[in-house]
Amino acid sequence: MHTIVLATQKGGSGKSTLAIGLALAARQAGFSVRLIETDPQGTLSNWQRRRTAEDIVVEPIYHAADIEPRLKMLAESGLQLAIVDTAAGLSAATTAAIRHSDLCLIPSRPTVADIEATTSTLSVARAWKRPFSFVLNQTPIRGQRIDNAAGTLAEEAALDLAEVVARPLIVMRNDHQDSLAAGLSVSEFAPNGKSTEEIRGLWRWIANRLDLSAAATNLLIDQVITAADDVLHATDEFAQDEATSFTA
Ligand SMILES: Nc1ncnc2c1ncn2[C@@H]1O[C@H](COP(=O)(O)OP(=O)(O)O)[C@@H](O)[C@H]1O
Ligand SMILES: [Mg+2]
Repeated sequence: MHTIVLATQKGGSGKSTLAIGLALAARQAGFSVRLIETDPQGTLSNWQRRRTAEDIVVEPIYHAADIEPRLKMLAESGLQLAIVDTAAGLSAATTAAIRHSDLCLIPSRPTVADIEATTSTLSVARAWKRPFSFVLNQTPIRGQRIDNAAGTLAEEAALDLAEVVARPLIVMRNDHQDSLAAGLSVSEFAPNGKSTEEIRGLWRWIANRLDLSAAATNLLIDQVITAADDVLHATDEFAQDEATSFTA
């Protein structure tokens, strides 16, 4: 079983939205998936109550001590993918989830303040030597320029930077909000939409990333941190350029 955790200090960065989008994208790609909710705010449980299909189980686990044994049981049961959604801030449950993850995804809007707020999550992932990647979410549509900048940096820095910023970037689109409200995922709500194309692309990127051996990934962590700093600065510059371009 692979365990993906979505974590970042800042609320509203898209942890729950991406957890749902990725869960359904992975399921549609043939994986057995469970959503684990460690955020007492209950965004995933509420979403499931609005949902009529019973294909995805949302399992609340609010106590840090329950996380490891439960993930172990799920792995033994043959589940292929657990996606853990966490609360804003850095609770004991979030730390436990990161510690037992195969990949820590850190969603962030492409603004300096949001990216800076990822630092504490990053330190936990580093402390437990867990592979991590940033997911730039709610980007402007003309954030194509951000995308190009990240791409150029990735080419220059080769593998390490390519691993640290997940691709594609997830654009700000109404489909994400409307599907959440309807108890659906974007891929169910707008199967032919760009939102779906992006989420499916993100799932493929993650699936590739998970195939990397953990050992190789850990060796790369220091290089990746350096590369992440570079992206931070690059994104800062482009976010200012793009601040006025926004699309629904
Ligand atoms: N790519 C996106 N485009 C548009 N709205 C988004 C996107 N990602 C998240 N949202 C919206 O932003 C809000 C916060 O997202 P949410 O997933 O609840 O964040 P978090 O779980 O990190 O607090 C929600 O209303 C959600 O629908
Ligand atoms: Mg949430």
